[in-house]
Order: sequence, then C-alpha cells, then structure tokens
Amino acid sequence: MATPMARSSGRAGADGVKQSFDRAEFRDSQGAFDYRVEQEAGAYFFDFIQRDTEHPIQGRRQLDYFIGSGAHARTFLLNFGGFLYESPVTYYSDSASWNASPGDAAFDYPNLTRPVLPGCLECHASAVQRIPDTQNAYASPPFREDGVACERCHGPGSDHIASGATMLNPAKLAPRERDSICEQCHLSGEIRVPKAGKDDQSFHPGERLENVVSVFVRAGAASQLRVTSHVENLAASACKRASGDKLWCGTCHDPHFVPSKNEKAAYYRSKCLGCHTTSDCRAPSASRQANDDDCTACHMPRNPPSDIEHVVFTDHSIPRRRIAASAAPSPDADLVLYGGGKAGARDLGLAYAMVGLREDNAAYLDRAFQLLKDAAAQGPTGADSLALAYLAQFYRDRRDDAHALPLYESSWRMDPAQSAVAAAIGAYWMQLKNVDQAVLFWNQALSISPALLLVRVNLAEALLRAGRSQEAQDVLRKALEFNPAFQPARDLLNRISK
Ligand code: HEC
Ligand code: HEC
Ligand code: HEC
Ligand code: HEC
Ligand code: HEC
Ligand code: HEC
Repeated sequence: MATPMARSSGRAGADGVKQSFDRAEFRDSQGAFDYRVEQEAGAYFFDFIQRDTEHPIQGRRQLDYFIGSGAHARTFLLNFGGFLYESPVTYYSDSASWNASPGDAAFDYPNLTRPVLPGCLECHASAVQRIPDTQNAYASPPFREDGVACERCHGPGSDHIASGATMLNPAKLAPRERDSICEQCHLSGEIRVPKAGKDDQSFHPGERLENVVSVFVRAGAASQLRVTSHVENLAASACKRASGDKLWCGTCHDPHFVPSKNEKAAYYRSKCLGCHTTSDCRAPSASRQANDDDCTACHMPRNPPSDIEHVVFTDHSIPRRRIAASAAPSPDADLVLYGGGKAGARDLGLAYAMVGLREDNAAYLDRAFQLLKDAAAQGPTGADSLALAYLAQFYRDRRDDAHALPLYESSWRMDPAQSAVAAAIGAYWMQLKNVDQAVLFWNQALSISPALLLVRVNLAEALLRAGRSQEAQDVLRKALEFNPAFQPARDLLNRISK
C-alpha cells in the first residue's frame, strides 16, 4: 500500500501526502486569471479570478478526488452532480508548486469542463463505478478501491475465497499474458483503439491485451521510435531484444515494493547482474570507479522532468551512452500495430482518425476516410457505432450531408449513448428548421455529457427562435454554472436581457 501505484488515486485530503500550500497561487501563462488553492476543514478548493477588469469573472470549485501519487504530479477531479471533470490546477512535486494542468496552459480562461473519461480512472483507480449511457458520470464514490489494487494484476479473489482456487500469479503466466498485465496501463502507443464491443473495463488478468484493445505506434526504426511508454522504450533496448521473453517488467520491478533512495542503486544493480557481470561493462575505467555500483546512473539516465502527463522519466532503452531524446518519426509515418500483425480496416481507420484529428494531420485524415469507408462497406461486422460516427463526421466535414446524416442515424441506433452523434443529428434537424427535433437531440446529448457548452448555446438559440426565451435563458445560466467564463453563453445572455 506504500507504493505510488497503490496511492495513485483517492479522495482529496484522504491520504497522508500534504500538498504544499506555501506556493499555492499562480497566474495562468496568458496573464488572464489568477488561481489560489486552499484547504478548509480537510477539504480542498481553488479560487479563480479574472485580472485587470472592473467586474472580474470569478469562482470557487472543490477538488474532490486526486489522481497521481504525487511522485511527480498530482491532479484533481471536479464533481458536477456526479459528472467528473479534470481540474485546471495540478500540483507538481519536482518544483513543489501548483500550476496549470497539462494541456491547460494555452487557455486564457479556466478550463473547467474536460470530461474524465473512464480510461483515466481505469489506469489510476480500481473497481470503477461508471453510470451507463453517460460519458463521464460515476456513482459515489466513483471507484471503490483507491489506486491500482491487488485484483488488477491477480484477478478476482472471489474464487480463491469460495473454493480455495489459487490466485493468478502474473510471473507464472505465458509471456504474452504476463506482459499484458502491465501493458493494460503502461503501454500507451500513439493511440489505443478499443476493439468493437470492448471498452476500458474489458481487460481481465490472464488474457492478452490485444483481444481487448489495438495499440498503434508510428512505424520506423526502433531508435527513431518516439517513446510514449515504458513498454515501447524497454522493447527498443539491446537487453530486451537479445533476451526476449526472459526479460520483462518484473525482472527489475517488484510491484509490491519500491526501494528507498539509499537502496536503489544496489537494488537495480543486482537485477543487472542477474544477466551481466561487472566485467561486461566496457566503460573507461577512470569514469567507472566513481560510481561503479550504480549501473543505472549511466545506463538508465533520468530525463529532465516535464509537465507532460505521461512521459518516461527513466530511459528504459538502456543505452550504452546517454543519447539525446530521439527525434520524432515523420508525422506521416504509417501507423502499425504494436507487437506486429495486421489491423483490420475499422481499427486502423479509427487510429488514423483519432491521431489525425488530434494532430490536425490531413494525410492521416484522408487515410482514415478511405479505411472507414472500406469498413462500412463490409456491413455491420465491418463497422461499429464508433466507426460510423467518425465516418459520418468526415462526410459532414466534406459537406456531403446526403451520406453523413444516414450514417449518424445508424450509429445512433446502434449506440444511443454518444453525445457527439446526438449533437450532430440535432444540428441537422436545426438545418432542416425542425426545432422540436433539434431540441430533443440536443437535450439527449446533454444528458450524456452535460458540459457541452456550445451545444447549450445552440440549444438556447433554437429555443429563442421558437419564442421560448425563458427556457433559453435557463439553458445559458446552466452553461455559466459549468463555466462562468464561457464567453458565447455570456454574450447571448446579455443580448437576451437587453
Ligand atoms: C493507459 C493508462 C493511463 C491513462 C488512460 C491515464 N494514465 Fe496517468 N499515468 C499512467 C501511468 C502508467 C503513469 C506512471 C508514469 C508514467 O508512465 O510515466 C501515470 C502518471 C500520471 C500522473 C503522475 C503521477 C506521479 O506522480 O507519478 C498523473 C498526475 C496522471 N497520470 C494523471 C492522469 C489523468 C488525469 C488521466 C486521465 C485524464 C490519466 N492520467 C490517464 C497511466 C495512465
Ligand atoms: C501491479 C501488479 C500487482 C499488484 C497491484 C499486486 N501484485 Fe501481487 N504480484 C504481482 C506480480 C508480478 C507477482 C509475481 C512476483 C514474482 O514472483 O516475481 C506477484 C506476487 C504476489 C504474491 C506471491 C504469489 C506466489 O505465488 O508466490 C502474493 C501473495 C501477492 N502478489 C499478493 C498481492 C496482494 C495482496 C496485493 C494487493 C495488496 C498485490 N499482490 C498486488 C503483481 C501485482
Ligand atoms: C491498473 C493499471 C496499472 C497496472 C495493471 C500496472 N500499473 Fe504500474 N503504474 C500505474 C500507474 C497509474 C502508475 C503511476 C502511479 C502514480 O505515481 O500515481 C504506475 C507506476 C508504476 C511504477 C513506478 C512507481 C511505483 O509504484 O513503483 C512502476 C515501477 C510500475 N508501475 C510497474 C508496473 C509493473 C511491473 C506492472 C505489471 C506487473 C504494472 N506496473 C501494472 C498503473 C498500473
Ligand atoms: C534478462 C537479462 C538482462 C538483464 C536483467 C539486463 N540485461 Fe543488459 N543485456 C542483456 C543482453 C542479452 C544484452 C545483449 C548482449 C550482447 O548483445 O552481447 C544486453 C545488452 C546490454 C547493454 C549494451 C547495449 C547496447 O546498445 O549494445 C548494456 C549497456 C546493458 N545491457 C546494460 C544493462 C543494465 C545497466 C542492466 C540493469 C539495469 C541490464 N543490462 C539488465 C541482458 C540483460
Ligand atoms: C532493466 C531493469 C528494468 C526493467 C526491465 C524495467 N524497468 Fe522500470 N525502472 C527501472 C529503473 C532503474 C527505474 C528508475 C527507478 C528510480 O529511479 O526510482 C525505473 C522506473 C520505472 C518507472 C517510474 C517512472 C520513471 O520512468 O522513472 C515506471 C513507471 C517503470 N519503471 C515501469 C516499467 C515497466 C512498465 C516495465 C516493463 C515494460 C519496466 N519498467 C521495466 C528499471 C527497469
Ligand atoms: C560511469 C558510467 C558507467 C557505469 C557506472 C556503468 N557503465 Fe556500463 N558502460 C558505460 C559506458 C560509457 C559504456 C560504453 C563503452 C563503449 O561504448 O565503448 C558501457 C558499456 C556497457 C556494456 C556494453 C559492453 C559491450 O558489450 O560493449 C554493458 C553490458 C554494461 N556497460 C553494463 C554495465 C553494468 C552491468 C554496470 C553496473 C555493474 C555498468 N555497466 C556500470 C558506462 C558505465
């Protein structure tokens, strides 16, 4: 229970780690808002206030749950009626200070409505309690066990208790099944695409990760591979390439134990010496004598700390000599399945679509469009609701509504829990001047994901056009409850009140 993994999530204030409140204030990098984090009667809050204006926008939010042990960083979750959002403030241990959360630095207003998708909790917490048919609503508490709990690696204990059946021991599984246990959380790749019909809760210890999720990386020589996780980084090492299945995460790490600062060098050295002898090292003897016993100081150097959420701090490619951070492969390199094999049109199309949209990569988006068309042409076995939703979006972006709308509708029939699909169908009804249908679909979108603030503004405009001004104002006030700094809602509300 003392490991960072076990302490990776919980109720704010519940665990022993005390955040520093010496430097609990910061200003966003745009100079637009000031933030202050406060502790009050065992609970945590942050205040935000706009600068340089007579009537500043301001507010206070409670930090309800924490994510991250704080070994490097700890961020928090905000709770709006059971729907969870990432807090825009994060504590960084390396600098012992609070600052904008990763990804939020570019905003000149508090980013209060980033939904916490289940994947986030599935990696950082256990026994997650999702509420079906929503994007980010959870029961209270959202997870019944803090951090990475025993059963995430050992499988359910119920059989063991009922019949005395032996618990699963990861180290004794076949190599793919064994490695999958750590990969469920430690292999990020460029993008993870859940298999059709699977989600973040589908993996069970003892099976292969590739049955549940397709992990894609950019093709390229191993040394060029931009490192996005410990698994990929280790796979590029000479040790792993030469030892194969004999070497795995568990060779060096005991998940139940983290060596103290003083023990570290000797602890990891003993792991190296499980395969190497000290005479293997051909370092110039003068340089070695100084810290002969600390193999990892030279061969697994630490990268400079970074504010990016998920970076490998310790170089797991175990190089001879420290190498400069490897160059990113060409942004247009093929996406390929990690671990080899050939991906189907649906998985590969979704991978290009997700990375393409994230990086605004036109070449990827073209490939995604073609692949998803191929997948859809195979009928219901080729494309699931998610694939159809992306394909519909591509047609919509090409202003090909004749293709887009029916695809959105089939996607919606297959899975009426997709807020983006409901929002898009609502927009089509609005285009067709059918306000009632537009209002119906936009309200559905908001019941799945209530913080879609632009959808709220569109809904308000539709209600206004139908002469339902009071309802329109309520919708806008609700948007401002989520984020008082959301300008389009403020502007429209001002216009109505005038
Ligand atoms: C696929 C699994 C996965 C997902 C999804 C994920 N994380 Fe992580 N996260 C990790 C792992 C593994 C680490 C450990 C560090 C590393 O890999 O570099 C980590 C580290 C962190 C840390 C630093 C903890 C510390 O002090 O060492 C924070 C904070 C964090 N994650 C927040 C989040 C948040 C917030 C989300 C969702 C919005 C999220 N993560 C989604 C796996 C995940
Ligand atoms: C992150 C994954 C992970 C978590 C979480 C985890 N374990 Fe383990 N556990 C392992 C691995 C891997 C081994 C095998 C170690 C070895 O033999 O090298 C193991 C071995 C064991 C063993 C020895 C089994 C045997 O056959 O000798 C016991 C007992 C055990 N774990 C109990 C627990 C308990 C209790 C918890 C929760 C408090 C827990 N583990 C949490 C990964 C995990
Ligand atoms: C359910 C998700 C999950 C699984 C399964 C998992 N990890 Fe982790 N691991 C994490 C997260 C999240 C962190 C970051 C913890 C933090 O600092 O908040 C982490 C951190 C670590 C760390 C650094 C900190 C520490 O606790 O020592 C090591 C080493 C590690 N994991 C090894 C492993 C190994 C080995 C396995 C497989 C036997 C494994 N993990 C399985 C999620 C997971
Ligand atoms: C499971 C066995 C195993 C473990 C554990 C292991 N290695 Fe290796 N390592 C190898 C093998 C095999 C090679 C390849 C040797 C060869 O090609 O002659 C290798 C190669 C290397 C190389 C040469 C890299 C290169 O680019 O040529 C270095 C440096 C190295 N190991 C350091 C370490 C250090 C430091 C540790 C401990 C942190 C470690 N190894 C742990 C098996 C292992
Ligand atoms: C050859 C030994 C070795 C192997 C194999 C190994 N690690 Fe590590 N790992 C280390 C060392 C050394 C550190 C640094 C520990 C420290 O400074 O506290 C580390 C640190 C980490 C951390 C903490 C964050 C960081 O980057 O410092 C995580 C997470 C982690 N390892 C995950 C993994 C996973 C997942 C695997 C399997 C894919 C793995 N490791 C395999 C030696 C190893
Ligand atoms: C002071 C830094 C330093 C320390 C400490 C160190 N090494 Fe090295 N090691 C090097 C350098 C530099 C080279 C590369 C020499 C070269 O390329 O000619 C090297 C080379 C190696 C190689 C590759 C040898 C080959 O086949 O060419 C291995 C394996 C290795 N070290 C293992 C270890 C192990 C195991 C330890 C701990 C017992 C260790 N090293 C400690 C700096 C270090």
